[in-house]
Amino acid sequence: MRSMMDRGIGILVGLALLAAPAAAAQGDPKAGRELYNKWCSSCHGVGGRGDGPVSASLPVKPGNHSDGTRMNVLTDTYLFAIVKQGGPAVQKSQMMPPWGTQLKDQQIWDVIAYMRSLAVPRYKAP
Ligand code: HEC
Repeated sequence: MRSMMDRGIGILVGLALLAAPAAAAQGDPKAGRELYNKWCSSCHGVGGRGDGPVSASLPVKPGNHSDGTRMNVLTDTYLFAIVKQGGPAVQKSQMMPPWGTQLKDQQIWDVIAYMRSLAVPRYKAP
């Protein structure tokens, strides 16, 4: 029983890894920008520099999503996990909330495509 479950989870993780790059490529950065401004900019700032109005009062500062040297090393799978499930899912602060109830998976990929479009130097898909 146990090993069947383990295998099941392994297959799910495998599928998620396979699906991730393709899905990110399908994200629409324009739709993502609207979602980002609505849901994310209070902390991350319009333009993603981590300077939103709420950021000053946070004990952990939100990252600068336009800093390509920091963001480009993060995989799509990682970004998807932290946006959908929140900071603790990737051993980061719970000050980064989970968005899985507000945003559909496709909308999360749209937001990721938008964040990728902010990066300087530019993000190149692997
Ligand atoms: C309540 C404030 C808040 C909101 C709203 C918020 N975040 Fe965050 N986010 C944070 C904080 C704080 C961190 C840094 C966590 C850490 O370093 O431990 C973070 C980290 C991240 C990271 C990890 C990359 C990095 O900077 O290291 C991503 C990606 C991210 N947020 C995306 C989003 C997206 C997309 C939204 C909107 C759907 C969003 N966040 C909304 C506070 C917020």
